[in-house]
Amino acid sequence: MGTKKILTVVGGISKDSLNQKLFKAVKELAPKDFELVSTDLSKLPFFSQDIENDPPEVVRNWKNQIKEANAVLFITPEYNRSIPGVLKNAIDWGSRPYGQNLWNGKPGGVMGASVGNIGTFGAQHHLRQVCAYLNIDVMGQPEFYFNGSKAFSDQGQLTDESTKKFISEYWAAYKGHLQKLGIE
Ligand SMILES: Cc1cc2nc3c(=O)[nH]c(=O)nc-3n(C[C@H](O)[C@H](O)[C@H](O)COP(=O)(O)O)c2cc1C
Repeated sequence: MGTKKILTVVGGISKDSLNQKLFKAVKELAPKDFELVSTDLSKLPFFSQDIENDPPEVVRNWKNQIKEANAVLFITPEYNRSIPGVLKNAIDWGSRPYGQNLWNGKPGGVMGASVGNIGTFGAQHHLRQVCAYLNIDVMGQPEFYFNGSKAFSDQGQLTDESTKKFISEYWAAYKGHLQKLGIE
């Protein structure tokens, strides 16, 4: 297949977002044949059934990104033991109108960073439940729970070597997951 398009869905939208920093590190360590694409989820309007059949351009672009992606990687913060609303909103857009679930059958992965010691465990397991319903084929192992509070430099660069190594291992497993599903 050559280059694989990986839609990287980052649920952190603040300017100092840990999850955006994690995304940067993940992108730098990605396999050479992976092209990581992403969208600023804060630009999407709130989902409403009133506009699902004729959504604005920003949503149409988002849906095209989902359609064109060979696989998806979620990088989520944890908000109150779940995922941020902005991430759920983006997922909901991709699932509608009824019967036109663009997530259907996509291979997926889930990771995330928080300032707490459970490292987004709660958020990721809520997200896995949503993915199961949407028929996203999420890799089971390895899991990626990450307290990122001390892992980045002031410039936002990942400095923690063991996390860098783990990201590379994660990518290797993710690649294997895609291969198992016929994407190679
Ligand atoms: C509304 C809200 C709820 C939060 N809930 C949790 C939580 O349940 N567990 C946790 O570990 N951190 C929680 N946090 C702290 C986040 O882990 C921290 O703000 C993190 O940096 C958010 O990710 P981001 O930097 O990518 O935006 C919460 C933060 C906010 C703003």
